[in-house]
Amino acid sequence: MDFKTQPAPKEGLGAVAADALLLLLAGEQLPADLDAALAAPLKAALADGDLALKPGQCLYLHRVAGVKAARVAVATCGDAAPAAWRKALAEGLKLLKGSGAQHLAVALSGAALDAAKAEALVAVATEQTYVYRHTKPSAPPDSKLARVSLVCAKAEAPALDAGLARGRAIADGIGLAREYANRPGNHCTPSDLAAAAKALAKSHGLKLEVLERKDCEKLGMGAFMAVAQASHEAPKFIVLRWNGAPKAAAPVVLVGKGITFDTGGVSLKAAPEMDEMKFDMGGAASVLGTLRAVAELKLKLNVVGLIPSCENMPGGAAVKPGDVVTSLSGQTIEILNTDAEGRLILCDALTYAERFKPAAVVDIATLTGACVIALGHHRSGLFSSSDALAAELLAAGERGCDPAWRLPLDAEYDEALKSNFADMGNVGGRAGGAITAAKFLQRYTAKYDWAHLDIAGTAWKSGAAKGGTGRPVALLTHFLINRAG
Ligand code: BES
Ligand code: MN
Ligand code: ZN
Repeated sequence: MDFKTQPAPKEGLGAVAADALLLLLAGEQLPADLDAALAAPLKAALADGDLALKPGQCLYLHRVAGVKAARVAVATCGDAAPAAWRKALAEGLKLLKGSGAQHLAVALSGAALDAAKAEALVAVATEQTYVYRHTKPSAPPDSKLARVSLVCAKAEAPALDAGLARGRAIADGIGLAREYANRPGNHCTPSDLAAAAKALAKSHGLKLEVLERKDCEKLGMGAFMAVAQASHEAPKFIVLRWNGAPKAAAPVVLVGKGITFDTGGVSLKAAPEMDEMKFDMGGAASVLGTLRAVAELKLKLNVVGLIPSCENMPGGAAVKPGDVVTSLSGQTIEILNTDAEGRLILCDALTYAERFKPAAVVDIATLTGACVIALGHHRSGLFSSSDALAAELLAAGERGCDPAWRLPLDAEYDEALKSNFADMGNVGGRAGGAITAAKFLQRYTAKYDWAHLDIAGTAWKSGAAKGGTGRPVALLTHFLINRAG
């Protein structure tokens, strides 16, 4: 889908040349300057009680007299604040995406457009028209919509075009993250993730290195290797680099949990909903997606993506509860629950990150069911040892409509990780489970500014609309755009 700005015709919106027009209405009154050809049917709909000028309403009109576009969808967006704007776009697009229209024009009446609204248009339209087909070739055909133009005044165009370009990059990143998250465990193995990283490196000018099992063993990644040891799938430790700034500039390192399937291991999970553990590589997918967006935007910043990836399987070679392993940091870990595997693969990646002398390290992981209990499915959990870094990430989440919420890291929570047989246990009991998981990770991050995003509640949706969301690519990309200045 191609997104552009299009100058508003002098004659009014009725004259917009397109196959379909999506008209967003802000405010509680019909805008006084609305083209009469459109105002007339809307007044009639209001009088007939088929439309109300309050947020969340929509209406479809076909072949309106005096309107060039054959199809018109109207959606109300209240004060046109970010969430209402996105919701109205989604509602309006639902009415049009299955139509025969190839060229859609989008216009806002009653409020002003800005770059954030343009960015959101790309995000919503791309999200709405995504179709998963990798293992379902019979999925419905792609929407015919090929062109979307945002109708605006000439003077607004440069800022809106910049917003559309940012939206395009973020939407492409989200799309990549979503696609790989959706692919089942047997179609998205660690090797498949490494192949995706290779393809991305080639198409977008990134540097790639992949460490194999023997490399990781040699380095001393005892925690990562303990999780990987029962699987017949080869583990991969993916290192992707975007060099957008001079060599000397300290990079931001993103670390994504890449468990391509989490059975729980010997501490086996229950059968219901276990299929959703194919999404346990959502953190890894978001790192790939964010690097794609960063490369498309050609950000003047150095970014490193680290993805420890393996399956968590039971079996004769599996790690057992009570086993003690030595992490890359030298700290020993008593593995009390093999289902707390995310922190085991991440801790070695966090230690590996030290070699980049990073400006900041952010890890992203579908880490705990406890985080879903704490925050539900709207906000990701954010933990950070740095108030400044936490503030940056929270603000980026708001800008990208991909919000997070900070949770604490008080020293008191650390008690739960005590072990009689190792430097730490890998679990701390049910209470505060998202926090004790973050406290475990924090023990590996003394050498740099660090933040952790627990995306267990936000990386995918369950139920009828089961599927990856591509979160938190928007948050991360906004964070990096801001860092690039
Ligand atoms: N991948 C899961 C976390 C998860 C579970 C995310 C359910 C979303 C939905 C993780 O590896 C895990 O199993 N965590 C355990 C930790 C526990 C054993 C301390 C959990 O949350 O139950
Ligand atoms: Mn697990
Ligand atoms: Zn897991």
